[in-house]
Amino acid sequence: MRVGVLVSGSGSILSALIKSGINICVVISDRPCVGLDIATSYGIATELIERKSYDRDFDRNNYTNHVVEKLHLHQVELVAMAGFMTILGEPIFEAFSGKVLNTHPALLPSFKGAHAVEASLAAGVKLSGCTVHIATPQVDAGPILAQEAVPVFEQDTPASLHERIKEVERRLYPKCILEISQGGHVL
Ligand code: GRF
Repeated sequence: MRVGVLVSGSGSILSALIKSGINICVVISDRPCVGLDIATSYGIATELIERKSYDRDFDRNNYTNHVVEKLHLHQVELVAMAGFMTILGEPIFEAFSGKVLNTHPALLPSFKGAHAVEASLAAGVKLSGCTVHIATPQVDAGPILAQEAVPVFEQDTPASLHERIKEVERRLYPKCILEISQGGHVL
């Protein structure tokens, strides 16, 4: 299965996906970032579809259509979000129905959203973890494929907890994607 990966940041999950042998045919980003550089260093095609506006007038569906266009251009069959920070609109879920995956740094359905690690610490939870799920138009609410817990320690900072979670994500997310891409089906 040809996999397209969407990134916005440091790309450590992307690196793990690449090293696992997943057939990544394109890496797309909404901003210049290390993730794009990592893809380039492995000779993987990249597309920068820069998000110009963070205002209320941001045209989400128009932006999403550009992403879908590039995914089609690279004949992507399965989409894996790996730290992608723009919420995408309906067009991607219509074009790749049930075939958009995400990894989230919390045990869903708790702590949805972009600040899951900070919110988990603020709530004083003693267990956190990661969730691999199918993405749907409702953010972080799609069917759960896999979860794994990590402990939260008294002295944790958002960075230390996030890194402990990402260590699991770098193992669990590639495993899920490999199973799907080799089996040819998502569920
Ligand atoms: C991961 O924790 C992922 O769950 C979240 O963003 C992080 C990406 O990490 N959505 P990296 O940029 O791949 O290091």
